[in-house]
Amino acid sequence: MDLKVENGCIKEDKGLGWGKSLPVQSVQEIVRNGYQSVPERYIQEIKDRPSFISSESLQASLQIPIIDFSLLAKGDEHETRKLDLACKEWGFFQIRNHGVQVKILQKMRAAMAAFFELPLMEKKKYAMGANDLEGYGQAYVVSEEQKLDWCDLVALKTLPLEQRNLNFWPLNLPGFKEAVEKYSIEVQKVAEEINANLSMLMGMERDGLKRYQGELKQLMRMNYYPPCSSPDLVVGVSPHSDGGSLTVLLQDDDIIGLQIKHKGEWIPVKPIPNALVVNIGDAIEIMSNGVYKSIEHRAITNEKKARISAAAFAHVDDELEIGPLDSMVDDPHRPPMYRKIKYIDYIRQVLARKWTAKLTLI
Ligand code: OGA
Ligand code: NI
Repeated sequence: MDLKVENGCIKEDKGLGWGKSLPVQSVQEIVRNGYQSVPERYIQEIKDRPSFISSESLQASLQIPIIDFSLLAKGDEHETRKLDLACKEWGFFQIRNHGVQVKILQKMRAAMAAFFELPLMEKKKYAMGANDLEGYGQAYVVSEEQKLDWCDLVALKTLPLEQRNLNFWPLNLPGFKEAVEKYSIEVQKVAEEINANLSMLMGMERDGLKRYQGELKQLMRMNYYPPCSSPDLVVGVSPHSDGGSLTVLLQDDDIIGLQIKHKGEWIPVKPIPNALVVNIGDAIEIMSNGVYKSIEHRAITNEKKARISAAAFAHVDDELEIGPLDSMVDDPHRPPMYRKIKYIDYIRQVLARKWTAKLTLI
């Protein structure tokens, strides 16, 4: 916790102001110390356990759209149509040729791995405050009874640069700050180009969403999923949808972990080396008046290997009122499907309920 002395009184850092997570043990530490069997609090109810992946869901996995970002950036019509369909039917897609150099991806991965390798005492220097979600910890624990995710994480405000809280950053870890900074800037460019394309698809100019949303911010959630001796009993991240505009995920190239809910089935998102995974968040679903879908997803664990991922959440200003865009409402054919809500009120409601299925807003 960061305590600042201001005008003679001690004040906690304001941080994200989105909510809080009750402190629980580091999962990585449970694994480091050795365990006989998975502790009770991590064992999911039978209905929530990751079931056996059927051959149909593996087949469906191959259909998750893959978009060539370089074509999209050139305004290629066919690729733009693919993006439209991907956002309507899947809410998730992978992008290739995204322009983020492999070297930058590698450095980002190495930085995250080096952070989680640090001794617990060192990581605790960057621990989330009692009333905040920024920093090192576990997410999102809102009750003593809830099942816990098999995951440690560090969440950092990454953009705009001037809004970073560097006291949560391991500044003495060589290369960490540079790697995260470079990656976050590059990945935000990708998110902005996708937003420009979505603006046009939603009947606006290229800068339509930018004008409505303002300069996008970015929160980077770096996830560490330790290996689990019984991956069929636990989940890495419980089912949730992302609250922001867009999420760009850098996942492990070799280990399958991410699964998305599609037509009632959990479908794995098979990694494509050096590709990025993009998904629509709740804010875009709301702005698009439900045309683009923010899909429930989760991560499962691996028996032998740890998996690391970085989710860059592009999100709007806390004070922005979000609601269906005029260009997406057509009374009486397509009335507004969501009521207007201030972004921070929305996020607070979502996080306070544990990261479960989405809120319905009407
Ligand atoms: C997230 C998330 C999935 C993954 O951090 O919001 O959905 O594969 N992560 O790590
Ligand atoms: Ni997510």
